[in-house]
Amino acid sequence: MKGLILAGGAGSRLYPLTLVASKQLQPVYDKPMIYHPLTTLIEGGVREICLISTPHDLPRFKQLLGDGSRMGISIEYREQAKPEGIAQAFLIAESFIGNDAVALILGDNIFYGNNGFGEAFAEFTSGATIFGYHVHDPERYGVVEFDADGKAISIEEKPKEPKSNYAVPGLYIYDNDVLEITKNTKPSARGELEITAVNVEYLMRGTLHVEKLSRGFAWLDAGTSTSLHEASAYVQTIESRTGIKIGCPEEAAFRNGFLSISQLAAISAAMPNCEYRAYLENVVQESRRIENSKSR
Ligand code: DAU
Repeated sequence: MKGLILAGGAGSRLYPLTLVASKQLQPVYDKPMIYHPLTTLIEGGVREICLISTPHDLPRFKQLLGDGSRMGISIEYREQAKPEGIAQAFLIAESFIGNDAVALILGDNIFYGNNGFGEAFAEFTSGATIFGYHVHDPERYGVVEFDADGKAISIEEKPKEPKSNYAVPGLYIYDNDVLEITKNTKPSARGELEITAVNVEYLMRGTLHVEKLSRGFAWLDAGTSTSLHEASAYVQTIESRTGIKIGCPEEAAFRNGFLSISQLAAISAAMPNCEYRAYLENVVQESRRIENSKSR
């Protein structure tokens, strides 16, 4: 499965923070925001990733993430000249997707908890898999309605009168039909290729699977100054209590077998002396201790 990260848009709600660096490059406590969706894809077992952003911001993402080899993955880059809709990502990355299935994640979506989306990625075979998350303000999102048996029966984009409290978060898994479906999708009244229109088409075809995310799973929004600050506070609280980092792509790559212990050790040794390096060194030491105790 291929992975797409959509990290464009104007970021106008965070102005003036976004005058120089885009929203997805802003810090969420101790890491750039983009580390979170990147980690989610890696945790899902996705190794080939394409990042899409504006011509203005793309060079900075390349500077930050390079070709991905430092994280045991490969990253390609594509430009979105204008923000003409989330689903446009599939058209921009068509040659990258090829004949494969594809997971799309929005660059400002932060997920944490349980065992993540592991099973949804691992068990995906065909159609589309999206998620439903209970929120108090569904009118700000794509909203999915379920029948009494828990089957999805409608999806609407930012409805004035939402039919449920279940918002659709910015992680979507599709089979290769998404290319043909997107090509046949008309732009909405606001001139965008809507991801909700793609999901509605899968729903009509009877191949949409919507999984409710459980209580205790966190989906954080980081689109305004207040929610960005709250996301930082959340990450800091969990990290200082547990000593475990949220959104650490190198660690996720190691735990998924994309990097060996010695590769992770070499990668952390090349970092400047900092708390992030000390954390990765600790991951290496702990893993070596466990390996040694197994071989005794
Ligand atoms: O966060 C989940 C929600 O994301 C979904 O529930 C909605 O169905 C979906 O439409 C979307 O709603 P938003 O109002 O959050 O969409 P927004 O236009 O703010 O774009 C989301 C992110 O994607 C944002 O960081 C900018 C980026 N983006 C957006 C568009 C439209 C792009 O990079 N290019 C684009 O063309």
